[in-house]
Amino acid sequence: MIIAQITDLHVRPDGRLANDRVDTNAMLRAAVEALMDLDRRPDVVLATGDLTECGLTAEYEALRDLLRPLSMPVYLVPGNHDRRENLRAVFQADGYLPDNGEFLHYTIEDQPVRLIGLDTVVPGDGHGLMCRHRLQWLEEQLSQEPGEPTVIFMHHPPFLTGLADMDRINCRGGDAMADIVSRFPNVERVLCGHHHRPIQARWAGTLASVAPSTAHQVVLDLVPDNSPAMFRMEPPAYQLHVWSTYSGLVSHTAYVGDFAGPYPFVLDSDYPGHRPPAAGSEAGGSRRIDAMDRDIVTWVMVDPQRAGRLIC
Ligand SMILES: [Fe+2]
Ligand SMILES: [Fe+2]
Repeated sequence: MIIAQITDLHVRPDGRLANDRVDTNAMLRAAVEALMDLDRRPDVVLATGDLTECGLTAEYEALRDLLRPLSMPVYLVPGNHDRRENLRAVFQADGYLPDNGEFLHYTIEDQPVRLIGLDTVVPGDGHGLMCRHRLQWLEEQLSQEPGEPTVIFMHHPPFLTGLADMDRINCRGGDAMADIVSRFPNVERVLCGHHHRPIQARWAGTLASVAPSTAHQVVLDLVPDNSPAMFRMEPPAYQLHVWSTYSGLVSHTAYVGDFAGPYPFVLDSDYPGHRPPAAGSEAGGSRRIDAMDRDIVTWVMVDPQRAGRLIC
């Protein structure tokens, strides 16, 4: 199973830019095209908040149109730029958002990995919160299937990252959430957005991560107390979290754009592991490795010797 994660889409009404300069809609369109162009398409797509810039109905309608080419289920959770009521109104028909109640949290049960979407929004504030009600709901959800591999996805990271200005608006109540999550070793990942950078941390006995944005990225600034956070047009990206019973969950970051290649790997004759071809074998002093499209898991199991020789 492949879980794609897109985050911090910051969609605007058609024809408008985010932050006066970022064409977030065009960038999301490119990310959607990239996902659909993958030889092995994801089974589901998770969008971890800041789906829109201002939470306007016109933005959610634009988002719905931009996501329409995706042929697989798409699950949304809100971020601090979103408005629950408008998100619910436009996407209610998709069937997974709760019909009523304050929070847009839910659990997807029909996939090889159980998916728990959390709503960390505090309306009108930049920071998030796992309040008493949300913590209780999460604990109930986890207690129902303690043996199933599970991914939690949410907008605000519940852990500190060292990006000072972003950490000020992270998810409060993170320690209480960690107390719960740490009791469930079946939680494979806690996937977040909000910080617009690829970040990983060991947290609550599992791995917690932030995915880069499909649009603009927050400047990598690890100086304590630096403020304000700024953004930069580093490459837009998405992540693929690949589940197999053999390897568990393995995560990849992919960049959206027109890049040169692909090219075959070629071993230079000076490479330490280079061996001249035996007499009668293929001619030439270099060797092409073209097996990257094989199922690496099967490969390792069937022929570990050969897998060990893979050089890339
Ligand atoms: Fe964002
Ligand atoms: Fe955010």
